[in-house]
Amino acid sequence: MDYKNLINKLEESKHLISMTPLDKIVEIGFTSGMNQDSFVLDLCCGYGEMLKVWHQAFGIKGIGVDICKEFIDEGKILLKHENIDDISLIEADVLNWKSDKKFDYVCLSGEDFGGFERTIQLLEQYVKPNGKLIIGTRFSKVESPPMELIEFEGETLSLRSINEIVRKFDYFITSMASDTDAEWERYIMWSARRHLENLRNNPNDENCQDWCEKWYTSYFGFRRKYEGYVLLVIEKL
Ligand SMILES: C[S@@+](CC[C@H](N)C(=O)[O-])C[C@H]1O[C@@H](n2cnc3c(N)ncnc32)[C@H](O)[C@@H]1O
Repeated sequence: MDYKNLINKLEESKHLISMTPLDKIVEIGFTSGMNQDSFVLDLCCGYGEMLKVWHQAFGIKGIGVDICKEFIDEGKILLKHENIDDISLIEADVLNWKSDKKFDYVCLSGEDFGGFERTIQLLEQYVKPNGKLIIGTRFSKVESPPMELIEFEGETLSLRSINEIVRKFDYFITSMASDTDAEWERYIMWSARRHLENLRNNPNDENCQDWCEKWYTSYFGFRRKYEGYVLLVIEKL
């Protein structure tokens, strides 16, 4: 076993807050034609890790926006460490943030603000004509997901329903990267460790206690079985 390589891989995935494997994120960049002329906007970018990966793999330039100061500050340190200055990270609420710039790719992975249709509309504000949208979204593996999943997560569409919306907006799905159980485990447990740390520091935080209960119950009871995650590139004819 090449442990060094394995640890490098774990290190590389550490700052992704979604269930798409790193190699599939690179694959999506490749199949959708990213190159050094590509200008990419990533809304809700977390640590900006996808932008960093696409920069290192294809030379893209980009902007990432996230509301969480901790993620943006850490992301900036990671970029500086790699001497990358073609990616800027901005701490802002994407619902208030505005830009006159237009981008070749506009991405939102791992968050939604009122459903899949709304996500398309949000991203379309920033895309150049003929540009591409990249949407990372949860989906239901069955047509009628259990109520517990919907109560926990809100709208959870099947891939068939997602495709119907994509077509309704006159787009086609042209690249697609699905989750794996291993990526879910990485994400769920990353989050669990953060909450545990908070509980150690704030043992009486009842909200956090309740959330932890729900987090584990919903993952082992429903999410693992019924919920998937996919990163889609969509484009118009
Ligand atoms: C599940 S994470 C996904 C992060 C990243 N896209 C990735 O795949 O690694 C969701 C992100 O959305 C951010 N977020 C949530 N609401 C936001 C808002 N209103 N404006 C900006 N960022 C937001 C969170 O801070 C978090 O980083």
